[in-house]
Amino acid sequence: MGSVCRASPLPDDYWRRPLAPQGEAPATWSPAERALAPAACGTCHVGVFADWQSSVHAKAFSPGLVGQLLTYSAAETQICLDCHAPLAEQAAAFERARAKGQAHWPQAQGLAAAGNGCGGCHVRERRRFGPPQRETGKEGPEFVNGAHGGVIRTKDFEQSDFCASCHQFPQDQAINGKPLENTVEEWRHSPHAAAGRTCQSCHMPDRRHLWRGIHDPAMVASGVRPDFLANAQGARFTLTNTGVGHAFPTYVTPKVIMHAVLLDGTGRPVADSARSHVIERRVVYENDEWREIADTRLLPGESASVEMRWGDAQLARVWLEVRPDEYYHVAVYAGLLDTLPAGEARHLIAEADARAQASPYVLFETVLKRNTAASEAPPLTAR
Ligand code: HEC
Ligand code: HEC
Ligand code: HEC
Ligand code: HEC
Ligand code: HEC
Repeated sequence: MGSVCRASPLPDDYWRRPLAPQGEAPATWSPAERALAPAACGTCHVGVFADWQSSVHAKAFSPGLVGQLLTYSAAETQICLDCHAPLAEQAAAFERARAKGQAHWPQAQGLAAAGNGCGGCHVRERRRFGPPQRETGKEGPEFVNGAHGGVIRTKDFEQSDFCASCHQFPQDQAINGKPLENTVEEWRHSPHAAAGRTCQSCHMPDRRHLWRGIHDPAMVASGVRPDFLANAQGARFTLTNTGVGHAFPTYVTPKVIMHAVLLDGTGRPVADSARSHVIERRVVYENDEWREIADTRLLPGESASVEMRWGDAQLARVWLEVRPDEYYHVAVYAGLLDTLPAGEARHLIAEADARAQASPYVLFETVLKRNTAASEAPPLTAR
């Protein structure tokens, strides 16, 4: 009975926070259609569910989050849940578990444990919203063989602003002119926006629910290009943001380090020859106030370099280190572990800190050889 009525944009209050409860499902719906759990959607949407499960959105109800929620009131908790577990039914499930003293226990958290699940993005008052029909581009409400009363299709799902409710803080919370999360604005001022490359085109290729980011080496490699120069004078390692649709990295939490060190004849590092360059936005929270210390992130098209003179050496090792959760480890969790008494909250934060400490990786490394032949390569800039 597929009938197209009109192009229907998302209701104005689609991202009203907190989200309104869904209400009762029609009595004629099957239990799977009535359920809000991602696994229930997954009984029919098998591939989407498998992709989502592999994503960080599925893991947003994490030990680092819950460890903090246990120290908060329900009202403070709701602010965090707006992005980490957005359905009203998820907040209710968490508060029920809290009332039983089991909020630290994933099985007791029920729907809350699903984190940023299907419903938060797709379901309002039980109605399914989604992008234009894949094959036909059709918009508007459609009766899809009767499943969950149909679906309302709108282009809003294909636009970067769809991600803004959780990935963009308001300008009135800016620190040195830039909100702590400024991803959508960074993107809007980039050549990617002008070229029509949306968040979805990079993070949901072919509509896949993958959302790979800084924790995924292949994703990071797709966005940056290393260049190496070795001439008679020295070596240079340059990194360029060629394919990240916003600052690399966009958040204040990761730290990326470009490393270079000279090697002696036996392949060991030459004493005092190590050089590095840090790529990050560094902020501190002191006396109830955020302050920016440095911002060396690479906007789309920007580069950074590390250089060294050969001296007696013939070889240099260069590598890129990515520390996705540096700020959580050194600032957030360290501070909490200093103050939290023994108990469930501390236990969860210790687990989150262990995960944060396990996340760093080396994206690539290579050894450069001194080029003793007269080189046409441009000379190094003096440092
Ligand atoms: C009983 C099976 C079933 C369940 C359970 C189910 N769906 Fe669906 N859904 C369908 C069918 C069938 C379609 C239409 C088929 C199609 O177009 O791919 C559909 C279409 C959709 C669409 C539109 C996609 C498109 O075709 O453009 C979205 C979005 C959607 N469902 C979301 C959900 C979410 C979110 C849940 C869980 C809260 C869910 N569905 C649960 C069967 C189901
Ligand atoms: C309801 C809130 C919400 C919406 C809407 C949302 N996100 Fe997220 N996103 C999150 C949260 C919360 C995390 C962090 C999850 C965690 O690790 O706890 C996250 C993480 C991510 C990451 C991974 C970051 C990393 O560290 O690897 C990417 C990429 C991402 N989101 C992209 C998107 C894109 C693209 C959209 C729009 C299509 C989107 N998100 C919409 C809340 C949201
Ligand atoms: C406006 C949306 C938003 C709100 C509100 C929000 N977060 Fe997040 N949070 C995010 C996003 C997006 C990320 C992923 C950032 C990244 O890539 O590292 C994140 C990451 C995190 C992480 C690290 C990843 C993980 O899950 O271990 C923790 C911990 C966290 N948030 C805790 C909180 C707490 C506690 C609150 C409430 C005080 C809160 N968040 C409120 C969007 C939000
Ligand atoms: C963070 C928000 C978010 C979450 C969580 C999310 N989706 Fe989606 N979904 C989207 C967006 C955005 C699109 C459209 C992407 C595009 O057009 O490029 C989409 C597209 C779809 C489609 C249409 C796919 C197609 O090929 O036409 C279906 C079906 C769907 N989602 C179901 C689900 C199910 C089921 C879950 C949970 C397992 C889920 N979504 C979780 C944002 C989300
Ligand atoms: C041109 C491709 C491209 C576009 C467009 C793009 N991204 Fe990314 N994004 C990447 C790549 C590559 C990474 C991995 C490198 C990194 O972490 O910065 C990434 C990383 C991220 C991360 C991980 C956290 C971090 O600190 O970097 C988040 C969150 C994210 N993107 C959200 C978004 C959102 C929201 C949009 C739309 C406003 C968007 N991205 C647009 C390519 C893109």
